[in-house]
Amino acid sequence: MSSSRTSDVLVVGGGIIGLVTAWRAAQRGLSVTVADPEPGGGAAQVAAGMLAAVTELHYGEQTLLGLNLASAARYPDFAAELTELTGHGLGYRRCGTLAVALDTDDRAHLRELHAFQRESGLESEWLSGRECRRLEPMLAPGVRGGLRVDGDHQIDPRRLAAALVAACERAGVVFHREWAERLTVTAGRATGCVLRDGTASSAGQVVLAAGSLSGRLAGVPDEALPPVRPVKGQVLRLSVPRRYAPFLSRTVRAVVRGSHVYLVPRLDGELVVGATSEELGWDTTVTAGGVYELLRDAHELVPGITELPLTETRAGLRPGSPDNAPLLGPAALEGLLLATGHFRNGVLLAPVTGDAMAQVLTTGELPDVARPFTPRRFRAAALSEQPA
Ligand code: GLY
Repeated sequence: MSSSRTSDVLVVGGGIIGLVTAWRAAQRGLSVTVADPEPGGGAAQVAAGMLAAVTELHYGEQTLLGLNLASAARYPDFAAELTELTGHGLGYRRCGTLAVALDTDDRAHLRELHAFQRESGLESEWLSGRECRRLEPMLAPGVRGGLRVDGDHQIDPRRLAAALVAACERAGVVFHREWAERLTVTAGRATGCVLRDGTASSAGQVVLAAGSLSGRLAGVPDEALPPVRPVKGQVLRLSVPRRYAPFLSRTVRAVVRGSHVYLVPRLDGELVVGATSEELGWDTTVTAGGVYELLRDAHELVPGITELPLTETRAGLRPGSPDNAPLLGPAALEGLLLATGHFRNGVLLAPVTGDAMAQVLTTGELPDVARPFTPRRFRAAALSEQPA
């Protein structure tokens, strides 16, 4: 091995979740190293950055809703702290979201979502098609109604990732720009990693926060490996020329022929259109079909979109978990912790994940809000499925 370094905490993965964990842990006085060839890269470069706890409410995910709302509530202070510390703007916009229906079936679906949101104590307002178009004049004339959710905001994940890198640097986090190749296990305990360049990085605790790659780190015993899988999302970026501004003044989304499409307008004129959801393993090809479907669906929603310059097409991998919720806290190996499996909510869950991981790293205990997301829930389920 070429060299070695030691810290209290080694974070494997420098995406938004790894960075926020490293930053918050360093703020609590721990020495932290992050291993990642490109900190702030990965899914943060693709994600649209919707903070959509209410409009992305799904049946069966009420426990996750609690975590999503807790994180959304932390966003204003989190964003202000990061900007004050680093001087980075984050593109944090509290502009709200409008979920619209294009036909009678969509309308029925949105009505159900509205009822479910209200049962869950969430704020959303039903609007007629005309009221939707009054709010967003670029919407198609055929829009049949919609839900106005002023509490669902947005942030620019690229700016957020850059700010987190800067905040980590200021807090003394050491970056090792290399892949972690293998977990080191000594006497039944995780004690660090060997990096691809041969460096041995040892640490008192190791946090696996490598997004969709988290299940692939060599050396992790089977029972401690997180059950995460890659779920591909293709995303487009367009730019709104000044003469068309404001093209949209809030996030607009819909379900078109069963696929989710959303348009996220940034103040700097970028318009993000996402996203496909494809179970295709590690494939990150941008396909003609993916781009076509996104543009077709976005065009049904906002016909004027075809006038805009298309500036970027990209695909990323969400870290999907069996119940669509993250895995936070100790794994089934002493010294190893997980912060992964955030699936569709990685950007939204950054503030609460950073706080929860810093707490468990310093005290050994997860805060109450994060306890339902312990990785042990999958192990308990697997054990109960074994024949007696
Ligand atoms: N949260 C949006 C997405 O995963 O596409």
